[in-house]
Amino acid sequence: MNESTRRKVRVKVPASTANLGPGFDTLGMALELYAWLDMSIADETRITLYGDQMNGVPTDKSNLIYKVAQLVFERAGVHHPELDIAMYSDIPLTRGLGSSASAIVGALVGANALIGEPLTKDELFQMATELEHHPDNVGASLFGGILVAFWDGKRAEHIRVEPHERLEALVAIPHFQLSTEKARDVLPRQQSLENAVFNVGHSSLLVAALCTGRLDMIKPAMKDALHQPYRATLVPGLAAILEEAPDHGALGVALSGAGPTILALVDRDSIEKAVLESFMLGKLKQEGIEATMLWLNPDKQGVRVDVLAPEESNETLEDALKKERVG
Ligand code: HSE
Repeated sequence: MNESTRRKVRVKVPASTANLGPGFDTLGMALELYAWLDMSIADETRITLYGDQMNGVPTDKSNLIYKVAQLVFERAGVHHPELDIAMYSDIPLTRGLGSSASAIVGALVGANALIGEPLTKDELFQMATELEHHPDNVGASLFGGILVAFWDGKRAEHIRVEPHERLEALVAIPHFQLSTEKARDVLPRQQSLENAVFNVGHSSLLVAALCTGRLDMIKPAMKDALHQPYRATLVPGLAAILEEAPDHGALGVALSGAGPTILALVDRDSIEKAVLESFMLGKLKQEGIEATMLWLNPDKQGVRVDVLAPEESNETLEDALKKERVG
């Protein structure tokens, strides 16, 4: 093994919220909640996971990060079957905050950096979308900010929109998991023309509001007829929060991705932030649902990767993160 293949890369990748109300499978936003991973080429594969969010994640070659890294090597025509991978994440699994999208994006970007970045960002976006099928999640983690995207099964296209400076998110993360598969199973396979027109109109208005800084138009725009009404049965309290949160200080509110997390967009200068937080928590509590509330800024940068200097390479991810948090 030569020196250039011994290097280690460290990736920091943001969580994402998908759908943003009417933008089903098309409108996402990156959030300042992160997963980190270290990757280097090794003599024997070792996968180390830190933190509670990693419970149940495999540590052998069936690990998603490992498998996605191998796809990058295959595409680039190189062979590195043994990897040393370490991962830590603050992004809860199967809650609608794009944990699998962030893992895929982290693995793609990390593996590509490890071999000198032969693949372009667009190639990585295409690969991520093929793997995850939701370009709004993977695109937000990759590019940061707000992502307007679609995938036609062959190519994903996107435009990144800079989030307004006063835009902040409040997420209510219920203490139960909901798989995307289960949340998609409740959706009808056919929709009326009326519902289609409803969502095209609302989604278009929302994109225009986000592009022009019209925070006042988020409230009328952030409504959906395609997925939230059907998923309300899976998330007790959702229907009432969607209906009433805009009267308690939210600019707009939506199921985050396939749920069960509920996301409110908020004007960071609002004087009703505490009111909104206790309203959302209270509504969930009435239904017997405990939830963690987090205030999150949009992440504007997207995934970042560092090739570590040799003297930094011996430090474990855990120790490096402790330092980052203290510093
Ligand atoms: N957009 C997908 C859905 C979720 O709502 O089913 C991806 O997180």
